[in-house]
Amino acid sequence: MKTRKLGEITVSEIGMGCMAFSHGYGKIPPEQYSIEAIQNAYQHGCTFFDTAEVYSPNLAGIGHNERIVGKALHNVREHTVLATKLFLNSSEVRADGSVYKAVRRHLESSMERLQTDIIDLYYLHRTSGGVRIEDIAEAMGILIQDGMIRGWGLSQVDVDIIDRAHQIVSLSAVQNIYSMVERDVEKEVIPYCISHNIGVVPFSPIASGLLSGKITTETMFERNDDVRNWVPQLSRENIAGNQPIIDLLQQFADMKDSTSAQISLTWMLHKYPNVVPIPGSKNKERIIENLNASEVTLTEEEFRSLEESLNKCRVYGHRGFNR
Ligand SMILES: NC(=O)c1ccc[n+]([C@@H]2O[C@H](COP(=O)([O-])OP(=O)(O)OC[C@H]3O[C@@H](n4cnc5c(N)ncnc54)[C@H](OP(=O)(O)O)[C@@H]3O)[C@@H](O)[C@H]2O)c1
Repeated sequence: MKTRKLGEITVSEIGMGCMAFSHGYGKIPPEQYSIEAIQNAYQHGCTFFDTAEVYSPNLAGIGHNERIVGKALHNVREHTVLATKLFLNSSEVRADGSVYKAVRRHLESSMERLQTDIIDLYYLHRTSGGVRIEDIAEAMGILIQDGMIRGWGLSQVDVDIIDRAHQIVSLSAVQNIYSMVERDVEKEVIPYCISHNIGVVPFSPIASGLLSGKITTETMFERNDDVRNWVPQLSRENIAGNQPIIDLLQQFADMKDSTSAQISLTWMLHKYPNVVPIPGSKNKERIIENLNASEVTLTEEEFRSLEESLNKCRVYGHRGFNR
């Protein structure tokens, strides 16, 4: 698969979001299935794998997902880029004695679960923990010098926070929500990141499945641990309202002999050179389908036509994060 850069880190241009093997989209698959799905993705050319310490069933434990990713990839570890994330709050920092010690404690636990002695990309999952971003940046900088992480990143942040952090220690990537129906980052975040050599890693790039065209107003989501029950964009009214976007994707999918999910990924790859989406799926076939979006290309004329049509569509509802 083609590659891209997140700062100085080289990754496949489409990565793999591993969260759903542990949390967020209903019943999780048997562990062996998840391991094979991740290994298949690697064999198919994916080198970039996204996890987080909190991805566990019902968010009730720590590390379920990191353990699966670690088991799946330890034999090919040196050929992969592992990204994981930590939450940090000020009471932990007080208990540990410094931001550096607190971050390092989280990091060492993640490293053990991921069966690795270095994390390629270590993100702060949210900035809501009451710890100054400059202090976190400094701690990350020391961990880079220690050789424990290759680069660091932030998730779901605005350009003010990105700038404050990046001035202390260069960021490799920003992981924010981004899809054809969630485009706030186009205004400031992506332009800032392009001009400062920071990668952008869109999460929920298929809008939690909406852009695949497989979700209809009749779709029933699962009862347990399924975020789609509270995603406003997936209310029946909003699914119906967004139908013109789904139809547009289907039209392009037919034209390009591809699928709607693939077109939604190809659109962002075409639009920006620093974007590396991490679609999530707990299904082996759909994981490969999404990775194959790397082979679907749009001409400049096709892209412009898609973009112009998309810009005319009103988006109903959002994904459910602070805007
Ligand atoms: N930083 C953060 O705060 C944050 C937040 C959320 C997610 N993430 C990361 O981003 C990754 C991706 O986000 P996400 O999983 O929320 O959203 P997503 O990739 O937009 O969508 C996942 C959903 O779409 C379905 N889907 C995926 N590909 C499909 C296809 N080709 N055809 C039909 N349905 C398809 C999946 O169903 P099936 O499983 O049935 O295929 C699943 O229900 C996660 O795995 C996680 O690593 C980060």
